[in-house]
Amino acid sequence: MKAIATIPTSKIVNIIDRDEPFISSPDEIKIKITQVGICGTDREIANGGRADAPEGSQELVIGHEMLGIVHEVGSSVSKVKVGDYALFIVRRPCGECKACFHERSDMCSSKKYTERGIKMRDGYMTEYVVDKEEFILKVPNEIADIAVLTEPLSVSIKAIVESLIVQSARLPGEKYDTYLEGKKVLVVGLGPIGLLGAFALRLRGAEVIGMDIVDENSTRPSLLKEIGGKYINDKLVQTDKIDDQIGQIDMIFEATGVAKLEFDLIDALGVNGIYVLTGIPGVGRPVEIMGGDLMQQMVLMNQVLIGSVNASKEHNQIALNDLIAYRKKWGKSIDKVITEIMPYTRILDALA
Ligand code: BGC
Repeated sequence: MKAIATIPTSKIVNIIDRDEPFISSPDEIKIKITQVGICGTDREIANGGRADAPEGSQELVIGHEMLGIVHEVGSSVSKVKVGDYALFIVRRPCGECKACFHERSDMCSSKKYTERGIKMRDGYMTEYVVDKEEFILKVPNEIADIAVLTEPLSVSIKAIVESLIVQSARLPGEKYDTYLEGKKVLVVGLGPIGLLGAFALRLRGAEVIGMDIVDENSTRPSLLKEIGGKYINDKLVQTDKIDDQIGQIDMIFEATGVAKLEFDLIDALGVNGIYVLTGIPGVGRPVEIMGGDLMQQMVLMNQVLIGSVNASKEHNQIALNDLIAYRKKWGKSIDKVITEIMPYTRILDALA
Protein backbone atom coordinates (compact mmCIF):
# COMPACT_ATOMS: atom_id res chain seq x y z
CA MET A 1 0.00 0.00 0.00
CA LYS A 2 1.00 3.62 -0.43
CA ALA A 3 2.12 5.89 2.41
CA ILE A 4 3.54 9.39 2.67
CA ALA A 5 6.75 9.56 4.65
CA THR A 6 9.48 11.94 5.65
CA ILE A 7 12.98 11.44 6.94
CA PRO A 8 12.83 13.52 10.14
CA THR A 9 15.02 16.65 10.16
CA SER A 10 15.42 16.46 6.36
CA LYS A 11 13.04 18.27 4.04
CA ILE A 12 12.30 15.07 2.14
CA VAL A 13 8.69 13.94 1.70
CA ASN A 14 8.05 10.88 -0.48
CA ILE A 15 5.23 8.57 -1.47
CA ILE A 16 6.53 5.16 -0.45
CA ASP A 17 5.35 1.53 -0.41
CA ARG A 18 4.52 -0.16 2.85
CA ASP A 19 3.17 -3.61 3.75
CA GLU A 20 -0.51 -3.50 4.59
CA PRO A 21 -0.97 -3.86 8.39
CA PHE A 22 -3.09 -6.71 9.75
CA ILE A 23 -5.04 -7.43 12.91
CA SER A 24 -2.97 -9.52 15.32
CA SER A 25 -4.96 -9.36 18.56
CA PRO A 26 -8.69 -9.47 19.43
CA ASP A 27 -8.87 -5.80 20.51
CA GLU A 28 -7.46 -4.41 17.26
CA ILE A 29 -9.28 -2.56 14.50
CA LYS A 30 -8.25 -2.02 10.89
CA ILE A 31 -9.36 1.26 9.32
CA LYS A 32 -9.31 2.33 5.71
CA ILE A 33 -8.20 5.96 5.76
CA THR A 34 -10.47 8.35 3.83
CA GLN A 35 -9.09 11.78 4.79
CA VAL A 36 -6.12 13.22 6.67
CA GLY A 37 -5.86 16.88 7.64
CA ILE A 38 -2.72 18.97 7.42
CA CYS A 39 -1.76 21.44 10.13
CA GLY A 40 1.18 23.62 11.11
CA THR A 41 2.86 20.66 12.79
CA ASP A 42 2.84 18.65 9.52
CA ARG A 43 4.28 21.59 7.63
CA GLU A 44 6.95 22.01 10.28
CA ILE A 45 7.82 18.29 10.12
CA ALA A 46 7.99 18.42 6.32
CA ASN A 47 10.35 21.38 6.67
CA GLY A 48 12.85 19.42 8.74
CA GLY A 49 11.34 20.37 12.14
CA ARG A 50 10.38 18.48 15.30
CA ALA A 51 9.63 14.78 14.58
CA ASP A 52 11.05 11.34 15.35
CA ALA A 53 10.94 8.16 13.29
CA PRO A 54 9.95 4.86 14.96
CA GLU A 55 12.85 3.02 16.60
CA GLY A 56 14.95 1.20 14.03
CA SER A 57 13.51 3.17 11.11
CA GLN A 58 14.74 6.21 9.24
CA GLU A 59 11.33 7.14 7.88
CA LEU A 60 8.23 8.47 9.60
CA VAL A 61 4.84 8.16 7.93
CA ILE A 62 3.26 11.58 8.58
CA GLY A 63 -0.34 12.64 9.29
CA HIS A 64 -2.15 12.75 12.64
CA GLU A 65 -5.60 14.25 11.86
CA MET A 66 -7.46 11.27 10.48
CA LEU A 67 -10.83 9.96 9.41
CA GLY A 68 -11.60 6.53 8.01
CA ILE A 69 -14.00 3.64 7.64
CA VAL A 70 -13.76 0.52 9.78
CA HIS A 71 -12.52 -2.27 7.49
CA GLU A 72 -12.11 -5.17 9.91
CA VAL A 73 -12.45 -5.72 13.66
CA GLY A 74 -10.84 -8.14 16.12
CA SER A 75 -13.07 -10.65 17.90
CA SER A 76 -13.44 -8.67 21.16
CA VAL A 77 -14.16 -5.26 19.60
CA SER A 78 -17.55 -3.78 20.55
CA LYS A 79 -17.26 0.01 20.05
CA VAL A 80 -17.37 -0.02 16.24
CA LYS A 81 -18.39 -2.35 13.43
CA VAL A 82 -17.29 -2.77 9.83
CA GLY A 83 -18.55 0.16 7.72
CA ASP A 84 -18.66 2.71 10.56
CA TYR A 85 -16.84 6.01 10.21
CA ALA A 86 -14.22 6.21 12.94
CA LEU A 87 -10.97 7.81 13.98
CA PHE A 88 -7.97 6.96 16.12
CA ILE A 89 -6.60 9.62 18.48
CA VAL A 90 -2.95 10.74 18.17
CA ARG A 91 -1.09 9.91 21.39
CA ARG A 92 -0.12 6.57 22.86
CA PRO A 93 0.61 6.26 26.60
CA CYS A 94 4.06 5.80 28.13
CA GLY A 95 2.88 2.93 30.34
CA GLU A 96 4.63 4.43 33.36
CA CYS A 97 3.04 7.64 34.62
CA LYS A 98 -0.21 8.32 36.53
CA ALA A 99 -1.70 10.46 33.77
CA CYS A 100 -1.22 7.76 31.13
CA PHE A 101 -2.61 5.17 33.53
CA HIS A 102 -5.75 7.32 33.77
CA GLU A 103 -6.17 7.53 29.98
CA ARG A 104 -4.70 11.04 29.95
CA SER A 105 -1.58 10.57 27.84
CA ASP A 106 -2.12 14.21 26.79
CA MET A 107 -0.80 15.03 30.30
CA CYS A 108 1.97 12.39 30.23
CA SER A 109 4.53 13.30 32.89
CA SER A 110 7.35 10.95 31.89
CA LYS A 111 7.59 12.57 28.42
CA LYS A 112 7.86 9.02 27.05
CA TYR A 113 4.50 9.17 25.24
CA THR A 114 4.49 8.60 21.48
CA GLU A 115 2.38 10.29 18.80
CA ARG A 116 1.24 8.79 15.53
CA GLY A 117 2.65 10.80 12.65
CA ILE A 118 4.82 12.96 14.92
CA LYS A 119 6.81 11.14 17.58
CA MET A 120 8.17 7.62 17.10
CA ARG A 121 5.02 6.10 15.56
CA ASP A 122 3.95 6.04 11.94
CA GLY A 123 1.01 8.27 11.16
CA TYR A 124 -2.15 8.14 9.15
CA MET A 125 -1.16 9.28 5.64
CA THR A 126 -1.48 5.79 4.28
CA GLU A 127 -4.19 3.43 3.04
CA TYR A 128 -4.85 1.27 6.10
CA VAL A 129 -3.99 1.54 9.77
CA VAL A 130 -4.40 -0.94 12.62
CA ASP A 131 -4.61 0.08 16.26
CA LYS A 132 -6.29 -0.82 19.53
CA GLU A 133 -9.93 -0.27 20.40
CA GLU A 134 -8.98 1.92 23.37
CA PHE A 135 -7.83 4.64 20.95
CA ILE A 136 -10.88 4.67 18.68
CA LEU A 137 -13.92 6.92 18.46
CA LYS A 138 -16.97 6.21 16.35
CA VAL A 139 -17.92 9.13 14.09
CA PRO A 140 -21.64 9.83 13.51
CA ASN A 141 -22.52 9.62 9.78
CA GLU A 142 -24.10 13.09 9.79
CA ILE A 143 -20.70 14.75 10.36
CA ALA A 144 -18.51 12.35 8.37
CA ASP A 145 -17.78 15.13 5.84
CA ILE A 146 -16.27 17.41 8.51
CA ALA A 147 -15.01 14.89 11.07
CA VAL A 148 -11.42 15.23 9.86
CA LEU A 149 -11.57 18.45 11.92
CA THR A 150 -12.04 16.45 15.15
CA GLU A 151 -8.35 16.25 16.10
CA PRO A 152 -7.49 19.95 15.70
CA LEU A 153 -10.79 20.84 17.37
CA SER A 154 -9.95 18.50 20.28
CA VAL A 155 -6.73 20.49 20.82
CA SER A 156 -8.76 23.72 21.06
CA ILE A 157 -11.38 22.05 23.27
CA LYS A 158 -8.75 20.78 25.70
CA ALA A 159 -7.27 24.28 26.01
CA ILE A 160 -10.72 25.71 26.75
CA VAL A 161 -11.70 22.90 29.16
CA GLU A 162 -8.43 23.36 31.08
CA SER A 163 -9.14 27.09 31.38
CA LEU A 164 -12.69 26.45 32.57
CA ILE A 165 -11.50 23.97 35.21
CA VAL A 166 -8.96 26.48 36.54
CA GLN A 167 -11.25 29.52 36.47
CA SER A 168 -14.26 27.79 38.00
CA ALA A 169 -12.05 26.35 40.77
CA ARG A 170 -10.41 29.61 41.79
CA LEU A 171 -12.93 32.36 41.12
CA PRO A 172 -15.75 32.84 43.63
CA GLY A 173 -19.19 32.48 42.06
CA GLU A 174 -17.96 31.09 38.73
CA LYS A 175 -19.12 27.70 37.45
CA TYR A 176 -17.51 25.43 34.86
CA ASP A 177 -20.63 25.24 32.68
CA THR A 178 -21.41 28.94 32.65
CA TYR A 179 -18.03 30.65 33.02
CA LEU A 180 -17.82 31.68 29.36
CA GLU A 181 -21.27 33.25 29.15
CA GLY A 182 -20.75 36.92 28.35
CA LYS A 183 -16.98 36.71 28.94
CA LYS A 184 -14.71 38.50 26.52
CA VAL A 185 -12.22 36.17 24.82
CA LEU A 186 -9.43 37.30 22.53
CA VAL A 187 -8.51 34.57 20.03
CA VAL A 188 -5.12 35.32 18.55
CA GLY A 189 -4.22 33.60 15.28
CA LEU A 190 -7.09 32.48 13.07
CA GLY A 191 -5.53 29.30 11.71
CA PRO A 192 -7.41 26.02 12.23
CA ILE A 193 -6.80 25.91 16.01
CA GLY A 194 -7.82 29.54 16.54
CA LEU A 195 -10.86 29.38 14.27
CA LEU A 196 -12.06 26.09 15.75
CA GLY A 197 -11.46 27.55 19.21
CA ALA A 198 -13.67 30.48 18.20
CA PHE A 199 -16.49 28.08 17.27
CA ALA A 200 -16.17 26.29 20.63
CA LEU A 201 -16.06 29.56 22.58
CA ARG A 202 -19.03 31.09 20.75
CA LEU A 203 -21.07 27.91 21.31
CA ARG A 204 -20.45 28.32 25.05
CA GLY A 205 -21.66 31.93 25.07
CA ALA A 206 -18.41 33.90 24.94
CA GLU A 207 -18.00 37.20 23.16
CA VAL A 208 -15.15 36.40 20.76
CA ILE A 209 -12.73 38.89 19.27
CA GLY A 210 -10.38 37.30 16.75
CA MET A 211 -7.03 38.78 15.86
CA ASP A 212 -4.79 38.00 12.89
CA ILE A 213 -2.77 39.86 10.28
CA VAL A 214 -5.06 39.24 7.31
CA ASP A 215 -7.40 41.70 5.64
CA GLU A 216 -10.74 42.25 7.41
CA ASN A 217 -12.69 41.07 4.34
CA SER A 218 -10.73 37.88 3.73
CA THR A 219 -12.03 34.35 4.35
CA ARG A 220 -11.08 33.75 7.97
CA PRO A 221 -12.29 37.03 9.51
CA SER A 222 -15.48 36.65 7.42
CA LEU A 223 -16.04 33.17 8.83
CA LEU A 224 -15.48 34.47 12.35
CA LYS A 225 -18.10 37.16 11.77
CA GLU A 226 -20.53 34.56 10.40
CA ILE A 227 -20.60 32.95 13.84
CA GLY A 228 -20.99 36.25 15.67
CA GLY A 229 -17.34 37.07 16.36
CA LYS A 230 -15.55 40.38 15.84
CA TYR A 231 -12.19 40.90 14.14
CA ILE A 232 -9.23 43.13 14.80
CA ASN A 233 -6.25 43.36 12.49
CA ASP A 234 -3.00 43.00 14.44
CA LYS A 235 -1.28 45.15 11.81
CA LEU A 236 -3.54 48.08 12.63
CA VAL A 237 -3.38 47.96 16.43
CA GLN A 238 -0.41 48.05 18.79
CA THR A 239 -0.33 45.02 21.09
CA ASP A 240 -0.19 47.19 24.23
CA LYS A 241 -3.29 49.11 23.08
CA ILE A 242 -5.57 46.11 22.50
CA ASP A 243 -7.25 46.32 25.91
CA ASP A 244 -7.72 50.10 25.50
CA GLN A 245 -9.63 49.34 22.32
CA ILE A 246 -11.74 46.35 23.35
CA GLY A 247 -11.84 46.60 27.14
CA GLN A 248 -11.34 44.01 29.90
CA ILE A 249 -10.32 40.67 28.42
CA ASP A 250 -11.23 37.61 30.51
CA MET A 251 -9.43 35.01 28.43
CA ILE A 252 -6.78 34.98 25.75
CA PHE A 253 -6.68 31.94 23.49
CA GLU A 254 -3.36 31.99 21.70
CA ALA A 255 -2.80 30.02 18.50
CA THR A 256 0.04 31.75 16.67
CA GLY A 257 3.27 30.13 17.82
CA VAL A 258 4.99 33.54 17.59
CA ALA A 259 6.95 33.82 20.85
CA LYS A 260 7.41 37.60 20.95
CA LEU A 261 3.71 38.22 20.32
CA GLU A 262 2.80 35.55 22.89
CA PHE A 263 4.70 37.50 25.59
CA ASP A 264 3.51 40.93 24.48
CA LEU A 265 -0.11 39.77 24.62
CA ILE A 266 0.05 39.35 28.38
CA ASP A 267 -0.46 43.15 28.49
CA ALA A 268 -3.98 42.75 27.07
CA LEU A 269 -5.19 40.33 29.77
CA GLY A 270 -7.67 41.69 32.31
CA VAL A 271 -8.15 41.24 36.07
CA ASN A 272 -8.37 37.55 37.15
CA GLY A 273 -7.89 36.66 33.49
CA ILE A 274 -6.58 33.42 32.06
CA TYR A 275 -4.24 33.12 29.11
CA VAL A 276 -4.00 29.77 27.35
CA LEU A 277 -1.20 29.04 24.90
CA THR A 278 -1.58 26.44 22.14
CA GLY A 279 0.91 27.66 19.50
CA ILE A 280 4.29 25.91 19.44
CA PRO A 281 7.04 28.42 18.56
CA GLY A 282 10.43 27.47 17.13
CA VAL A 283 13.28 27.44 19.64
CA GLY A 284 16.69 29.11 19.93
CA ARG A 285 15.68 32.70 19.17
CA PRO A 286 15.81 35.21 22.04
CA VAL A 287 13.08 37.86 22.27
CA GLU A 288 13.00 41.21 24.04
CA ILE A 289 10.02 41.88 26.28
CA MET A 290 8.84 44.30 29.00
CA GLY A 291 9.44 41.55 31.57
CA GLY A 292 8.99 43.58 34.75
CA ASP A 293 5.79 45.26 33.56
CA LEU A 294 4.24 41.97 32.46
CA MET A 295 5.18 39.97 35.56
CA GLN A 296 4.06 42.78 37.86
CA GLN A 297 0.73 42.88 36.08
CA MET A 298 0.28 39.09 36.34
CA VAL A 299 0.78 39.17 40.10
CA LEU A 300 -1.24 42.31 40.85
CA MET A 301 -4.14 41.12 38.66
CA ASN A 302 -4.31 37.46 39.76
CA GLN A 303 -3.68 36.19 36.26
CA VAL A 304 -3.08 32.65 35.07
CA LEU A 305 -0.87 31.55 32.20
CA ILE A 306 -1.40 28.00 31.02
CA GLY A 307 0.05 25.91 28.21
CA SER A 308 -2.00 23.18 26.57
CA VAL A 309 -1.04 20.48 24.08
CA ASN A 310 -2.74 17.47 22.49
CA ALA A 311 -6.07 16.16 23.86
CA SER A 312 -7.58 13.14 25.57
CA LYS A 313 -10.11 10.77 24.07
CA GLU A 314 -12.78 12.59 26.07
CA HIS A 315 -11.80 15.92 24.48
CA ASN A 316 -12.06 14.23 21.07
CA GLN A 317 -15.56 13.04 22.00
CA ILE A 318 -16.51 16.59 23.04
CA ALA A 319 -15.14 17.76 19.68
CA LEU A 320 -17.39 15.29 17.82
CA ASN A 321 -20.43 16.48 19.80
CA ASP A 322 -19.42 20.08 19.16
CA LEU A 323 -19.23 19.55 15.38
CA ILE A 324 -22.86 18.38 15.46
CA ALA A 325 -23.80 21.43 17.53
CA TYR A 326 -22.01 23.85 15.17
CA ARG A 327 -23.95 22.43 12.21
CA LYS A 328 -27.21 22.91 14.12
CA LYS A 329 -26.38 26.47 15.14
CA TRP A 330 -24.53 27.84 12.11
CA GLY A 331 -25.34 25.47 9.23
CA LYS A 332 -22.44 24.95 6.86
CA SER A 333 -20.13 27.62 8.36
CA ILE A 334 -17.97 24.96 10.01
CA ASP A 335 -17.43 23.28 6.63
CA LYS A 336 -15.47 26.34 5.49
CA VAL A 337 -12.63 25.55 7.89
CA ILE A 338 -11.71 22.85 5.38
CA THR A 339 -10.18 24.98 2.65
CA GLU A 340 -9.43 22.39 -0.01
CA ILE A 341 -9.58 18.63 -0.52
CA MET A 342 -6.74 17.16 -2.60
CA PRO A 343 -5.77 13.64 -3.65
CA TYR A 344 -2.71 12.18 -1.88
CA THR A 345 -0.68 12.55 -5.07
CA ARG A 346 -0.73 16.33 -4.46
CA ILE A 347 0.81 16.07 -1.01
CA LEU A 348 3.62 18.51 -1.82
CA ASP A 349 1.13 21.17 -2.99
CA ALA A 350 -0.94 20.56 0.11
CA LEU A 351 2.06 20.93 2.42
CA ALA A 352 3.17 24.09 0.62
C1 BGC B 1 -1.12 17.92 17.38
C2 BGC B 1 -1.12 17.37 18.78
C3 BGC B 1 0.28 17.05 19.21
C4 BGC B 1 1.14 18.28 19.07
C5 BGC B 1 2.57 18.09 19.54
C6 BGC B 1 -0.17 19.09 17.30
O1 BGC B 1 -0.12 19.54 15.99
O2 BGC B 1 -2.39 18.32 16.99
O3 BGC B 1 -1.92 16.23 18.84
O4 BGC B 1 0.28 16.61 20.54
O5 BGC B 1 1.12 18.71 17.74
O6 BGC B 1 3.27 17.13 18.83
